[in-house]
Amino acid sequence: MKVAVFSTKAYDRKFICQANAESGHELTFFEPRLNAHPAPLADGFEVVCAFVNDQLDAQVLELLKAQGTELIVLRSAGFNHVNLRKAAELEITVARVPAYSPHAVAEHALALILTLNRKTHRAYNRVREANFSLDGLLGFDLQGKTVGVIGTGKIGSIFARIMHALGCRVVASDPYPDTSLHGIVDYLSLDEVYRVSDIISLHCPLIPATEHMIDEAALEKMKPGIMLINTGRGRLVDTRAVIGGLKSRKIGYLGLDVYEEEGDLFFDDLSQEIITDDVFMRLLTFPNVLITSHQGFFTEEALRAIADTTIANIDAYATGQGTLHRVSVENVT
Ligand code: NAI
Repeated sequence: MKVAVFSTKAYDRKFICQANAESGHELTFFEPRLNAHPAPLADGFEVVCAFVNDQLDAQVLELLKAQGTELIVLRSAGFNHVNLRKAAELEITVARVPAYSPHAVAEHALALILTLNRKTHRAYNRVREANFSLDGLLGFDLQGKTVGVIGTGKIGSIFARIMHALGCRVVASDPYPDTSLHGIVDYLSLDEVYRVSDIISLHCPLIPATEHMIDEAALEKMKPGIMLINTGRGRLVDTRAVIGGLKSRKIGYLGLDVYEEEGDLFFDDLSQEIITDDVFMRLLTFPNVLITSHQGFFTEEALRAIADTTIANIDAYATGQGTLHRVSVENVT
């Protein structure tokens, strides 16, 4: 099939071309993020391949449909950036990569926790400049701390097991508890998770029910000095409320791999640009905030699995054989 691949970097090309070696789909790679402006680039392509910050709203979907697109394959598990209702109305099939390496994201959440706690990013720079002082590097033992996991699906359940193995008490909130976590996780109400946790990590999807779930009212319920980690989706967190929490010292540590307005920032080198997002720039001023630019998924294993499943989705659509990981309105509950 003719496939327009958007938001592509050199690393995407490498893994997608390798995965496509046998299938032989006709791939064209476009660097820009997909929105209404670059959408005409996909004219005549039956398949559009999109990533997390591509914009697949009603307007873009209508444009794509008019240009002949019948299948959208997402190189992500999350699908909050697609108007699925509109896609169904236009009879555009949407498929995703339901699981690639949940370990990649769970381990990145741990990396954020360890870095924020033990300040290895600061220590690295200090030692290179022959500054061997320990002032300001004081951390705490993770052993014995209570870690709250919001969403114990594929990623959250692995994260819960990792934290349990480090000697933490793990509590969680999920409308569908995972019985295989018996003896590892205590399921509590969301409010109880907020109340008892020293560290809270978000691993639920972004759906209407979870949008801005971390707001002023939620912060109010948490322990002073809470460590908050978000590797889920940016809009799970009300960034302005969180800035208030950092100023009042309610939040002791903040680790973000995602940000609600990340589409204009992440994945590109903007080091020579003027960044006009004042909320994001304010976040960067806090010494206890660590932000990575949506790199939780970024491991060899995950990129290979994303590329393999993406090509397999196209194969399944084209041949009617194999598994098509379709995502539809019913997935948004
Ligand atoms: P999953 O679908 O396996 O698990 C999500 C879990 O959240 C499910 O158990 C579900 O019951 C639960 N949940 C739904 N609503 C909830 C609520 N209101 N409160 C608590 N739990 C709720 O998804 P998976 O693969 O574990 O991914 C989780 C999220 O991680 C994705 O939706 C995506 O947004 C994000 N993600 C981030 C990546 C990164 O690079 N930073 C990469 C991949 C995914």
